[in-house]
Amino acid sequence: MHPFRPATLSALLLATIPFMAQATPAENDAAMRQLATDKGCMACHSIDPKPPRADGLPPIAPSWREVALKYRDDPVAYRKLTDTVMTGADPKARHWVGKTGAATMPPNAATISAEEARMLVNWLLVLVR
Ligand code: HEC
Repeated sequence: MHPFRPATLSALLLATIPFMAQATPAENDAAMRQLATDKGCMACHSIDPKPPRADGLPPIAPSWREVALKYRDDPVAYRKLTDTVMTGADPKARHWVGKTGAATMPPNAATISAEEARMLVNWLLVLVR
């Protein structure tokens, strides 16, 4: 059994940000998945692309591997996407029209700090491999 409850794990993560450079990739990956779950991102997003739904409707949100692929050649994507996560996607200038459902991403600033959002975005942008 895992020794930490999720809330404990993310509290530990935040306390250890200065040491994250020493975390192994697997530890960092586990911590980022937990953070994304704790912050509600996984209610809409998935890591891997989802198969088409039985009812024919598109997924709620793009998978993060698809996001990583789309922005792989954009060196400032991490900055733009951190802003998008904090303030929400502009409903008039959506980037995933036709590939996801009609609802756009609401602001997440009430649940996540800019630093946490930046860590998540930096992590999800390299999920392309
Ligand atoms: C209520 C559902 C919902 C939640 C919760 C949510 N997202 Fe999103 N997200 C979306 C949708 C829908 C889009 C596609 C927006 C568009 O078409 O531009 C999106 C797009 C994105 C993108 C790509 C933006 C772009 O311009 O291409 C990133 C990165 C992202 N979300 C990260 C996150 C993170 C990190 C969290 C958690 C803090 C989160 N999302 C929470 C629905 C959600």
